[in-house]
Amino acid sequence: MGIEKVREFDFTVEVFDQVRSLVKKKTGIVLSDGKQDMVYGRLTRRLRALNLPTFESYLKIVEAGDADELVNLVNAITTNLTSFFREEHHFDYLKSTVFPALMEKNAATKKIRIWSAGCSTGEEPYSIAMTIREFFPQDSGWDVKIIATDLDSNVVNTGKKGVYTLSRVDGVSAEYKRRWMRRGKGDKSDFVKMKPELQELITFKQLNLLEGWPLKGPVDIIFCRNVVIYFDKDTQRVLFDRYADMLAPEGHLLIGHSENMFNVCDRFESLGQTIYKKKF
Ligand SMILES: C[S@@+](CC[C@H](N)C(=O)[O-])C[C@H]1O[C@@H](n2cnc3c(N)ncnc32)[C@H](O)[C@@H]1O
Repeated sequence: MGIEKVREFDFTVEVFDQVRSLVKKKTGIVLSDGKQDMVYGRLTRRLRALNLPTFESYLKIVEAGDADELVNLVNAITTNLTSFFREEHHFDYLKSTVFPALMEKNAATKKIRIWSAGCSTGEEPYSIAMTIREFFPQDSGWDVKIIATDLDSNVVNTGKKGVYTLSRVDGVSAEYKRRWMRRGKGDKSDFVKMKPELQELITFKQLNLLEGWPLKGPVDIIFCRNVVIYFDKDTQRVLFDRYADMLAPEGHLLIGHSENMFNVCDRFESLGQTIYKKKF
């Protein structure tokens, strides 16, 4: 016999199913049975904010097409866990292999485009930017741009600001901190801000990977790490095929440590360590 949880709001299986089919349709994110408590916890905040008595009344508002509330719902559901230089081997690989190769390959255009797809609060694109600046300083004459996108509009705004607590940048080397971050003063002394030399490399935009992409290709490198883990195989199939279309010949795709291309897309060659190169 299961133990009934005493909850402030009724959260039946039917309501949970309604939420997950809405989330799947709008975002591609598949919420497993085990996510019921997480969804309850995150959405009750919306019910309280709107002063609503039941989940049913909340869903009515969203399903009636309230665009603002749909954004709030999506923002509440996304999992934005990230960190600076997460999966550091990818940044080592950029330095040892990808950037030196691009210096030759793109020597005529002196142009490099990188997409951080599912960038969360910005730690990933700023880590890419710090790595880039070692190879392509501001006065190098190279036109390097990073486009950083995420479904969740709140995290995109955090990325745009480029302000982080000291504890968030704990793992970044002292050298990089000195070169690329400015420590706040007075009541802001627990924060750092990314320097303009990094910020000018990155354009942050809200973008749903399931919808149209107002991006000009081709791009040389796509980071899409720890994003598709929440999608089913069919959604991954469509997405990786579109990434292959968007990448330049032999462009690189970097995915997360627990993600793989097996049975999903044959347009990439695996280089190991979740690094892929476009074949065709
Ligand atoms: C766990 S974070 C990964 C952040 C970063 N790439 C990393 O590896 O540290 C996953 C991000 O994917 C975003 N995301 C989920 N579904 C998305 C979609 N349909 N379109 C765009 N971004 C999405 C989430 O909002 C979240 O910020």
